[in-house]
Amino acid sequence: MTSPFSSIKINSLTAKNRIIRSATNDHLGNTDATVSDAQIEMYDRLARNEVGTIITGHLSVDPEISNRADIAQLSIGDDDKISGLRRIADKIHEYGALAVAQISHAGPRGLNPIDFNQLTTEEMTRIGEWFVSAAVRAQKAGFDAIQIHAAHWYLFASVLNADLNRRTDRYGVDAAGRISIVTDIVKAVRRECGKDFGIFVKINAHNTLPGVDDEDMLIEYARALFDAGIDHLEVSGMSFAKQPREAQCYFIEAAAAVKKAIPSLTVSLVGGIYSRETIERALSVVDMASMARTLLTQPDFLVKMRDEDLQKSRCIRCNKCFEIFKTKYERCIFGPVNSKLEETFAPKN
Ligand SMILES: Cc1cc2nc3c(=O)[nH]c(=O)nc-3n(C[C@H](O)[C@H](O)[C@H](O)COP(=O)(O)O)c2cc1C
Ligand code: SF4
Repeated sequence: MTSPFSSIKINSLTAKNRIIRSATNDHLGNTDATVSDAQIEMYDRLARNEVGTIITGHLSVDPEISNRADIAQLSIGDDDKISGLRRIADKIHEYGALAVAQISHAGPRGLNPIDFNQLTTEEMTRIGEWFVSAAVRAQKAGFDAIQIHAAHWYLFASVLNADLNRRTDRYGVDAAGRISIVTDIVKAVRRECGKDFGIFVKINAHNTLPGVDDEDMLIEYARALFDAGIDHLEVSGMSFAKQPREAQCYFIEAAAAVKKAIPSLTVSLVGGIYSRETIERALSVVDMASMARTLLTQPDFLVKMRDEDLQKSRCIRCNKCFEIFKTKYERCIFGPVNSKLEETFAPKN
């Protein structure tokens, strides 16, 4: 059995263990989209507690901060953000973890929602260029890799969804056209950032609205991404927040299918991993286990699992962490986990 504490090579990168902090919007950013001291404390907690690979919350690539996902999201859409983001990469590196910047466009889910079906081909291509510029900034800020966010309900997840994408240009029509918005970015980032810079992608297990019988499409997308040069694919799903509380390893069949089809691609599973048992289940079929809510509420989960035989996270998957920041100086129902919370976004009661 693969130990969660064994190291792994991800092409040019080496992660000290198999555990990933999946991208999590911490809602701790300054309202001008810059990095806060509260965030540095949060990354410190994760990194000092042995999380081997830490993916930031989604960073908006749009140069216009009014187009980001919410008022507490960070931006990577301008060179003036590089120095703040460097504080995150440096903090993560202090403890020998890999630092990965998740780059994203909120698209239909932004403060100014965009209907991507109405954008011209040139406008779509320009958004792709923002991703490439964001990757270059992430590299300048010291990150080991970027992760292109193509999961959940944001822009690229919608473009990849065969039922939502009604485009008739090169970014629509068929699976090859839909995935080309991402593969074009991957190839350009490889050219700009070199062979040793990590390129990760997060993708939905299902890319049709019914979400069944579409495994072939996921494999086709994964193969196109692999051929374009990605180093790592994280398999998630649109329905992660709607799962029953006791559900486990939500998308394990899809992730296993990708790993089986493309054995030399490093694959991780995210969603419903919150115990030693579920970590081991994930590692029985893919390379790495990613967690968001478990590490949000217990950044020291991994160390406690190793040293104190902790078996299960205290997270009850109530999903209050998506909105609690709007009304309280809290990020989880189990109370403050950060000493600088009151310096962040002022909640409205
Ligand atoms: C508060 C919160 C914020 C999140 N923000 C992001 C994000 O910025 N980018 C992303 O790809 N996923 C985000 N997610 C989804 C997680 O990365 C993960 O896919 C999902 O929570 C399922 O994993 P879990 O069961 O380990 O929580 C977020 C989840 C939560 C709970
Ligand atoms: S708010 Fe609920 S779902 Fe979110 S981390 Fe805390 S216990 Fe888990």
